[in-house]
Amino acid sequence: MPDWMVEATGLVKTYQRRDGSTVAAVQGIDLHIRRGEIFSLLGPNGAGKTTTIAMISGLIAPTRGDAKIGGHSITREPLAAKRLMGVVPQEIALYLELSARQNLEFFGRLYGLSGRELGRRVDEVLDFIDLTERQRDRLDTFSGGMKRRVNIGVGLLHRPQMVYMDEPTVGIDPQNRRRILDTVKRLRDEYSLTILYTTHLMEEAQELSDQVAIVDQGRIIARGSQGELTQQVGEQDRLIFTVGQQKVEEALLRRIEQSAEGVTRALYDAPAVGDADGAATAGTITVFARRGRRALPGIILAINDASLEIGSVEVREPDLEAVFLHLTGRALRD
Ligand SMILES: Nc1ncnc2c1ncn2[C@@H]1O[C@H](COP(=O)(O)OP(=O)(O)O)[C@@H](O)[C@H]1O
Ligand SMILES: [Mg+2]
Repeated sequence: MPDWMVEATGLVKTYQRRDGSTVAAVQGIDLHIRRGEIFSLLGPNGAGKTTTIAMISGLIAPTRGDAKIGGHSITREPLAAKRLMGVVPQEIALYLELSARQNLEFFGRLYGLSGRELGRRVDEVLDFIDLTERQRDRLDTFSGGMKRRVNIGVGLLHRPQMVYMDEPTVGIDPQNRRRILDTVKRLRDEYSLTILYTTHLMEEAQELSDQVAIVDQGRIIARGSQGELTQQVGEQDRLIFTVGQQKVEEALLRRIEQSAEGVTRALYDAPAVGDADGAATAGTITVFARRGRRALPGIILAINDASLEIGSVEVREPDLEAVFLHLTGRALRD
């Protein structure tokens, strides 16, 4: 039996609105996370990522279901479970008028550290988040990315076995974003921590994850390693055409696919376009195709035939964005 760091079963969260209506934020999520891996919840805004993390970390009570952290139930043994985890919330929760060091010392005391042990741990964390030189400066002189790093540091003070990070790069400049992603990998590689990471950005999930669960509308719609997930879209490349702001009707998309298939078949004696597996949003046509580059000329001819003007063309190999599009017919960022 694998050594699970997190086992969540049947998690459900239904929020009650003031007017009496309900929001089914999470509708039955199971998660199994192995020790020492980076596990990402990837899904669009509103998918239920934060709600899931909040239940697993004991910030909110599940409507149904439970999660075990290192074997301890978060609902029945919350203290034992919480001792094993560090939480890095989406919102920065720090004292801006205190220095980085003072913030870490303050939260370290909350975690029960004191004296020389506290000092040593704060030194280690400052070194890890690469803020040793700025440790005496007040946080209100820090950039958003530096504050986010202090936030991560707070989550590490009590030497947790796992860390939750809820979209830690949102609103952060590219340079600090890079650092945060590197930090996540170092936590796994150098400290063998288990990381539960949420994002709506395919690139981040792709760079970081050992395992991914794709979340949509409160449910996990696909899970596995990146290889397992991209296999779901087969060997199909994704061809993306921008066609100005013109509305692309579903019927037109079918026509484009059919005629592209015809052209490709004629040119190469083999069809290259997957069966009716395309998607269209205003201004964009996406076609899944085996051997995408080969299918390209045929599709371009077909789009021109439909009197649409092509602005740009992109060929992408199978990735997690393609898996989401394939399963939902929507783009992650919509
Ligand atoms: N406290 C709350 N009360 C009512 N609805 C909520 C609350 N928190 C989240 N929701 C709703 O639950 C759904 C999932 O939200 P959330 O978990 O924040 O998604 P994500 O983190 O993936 O963006 C959304 O429709 C959101 O509006
Ligand atoms: Mg969220």
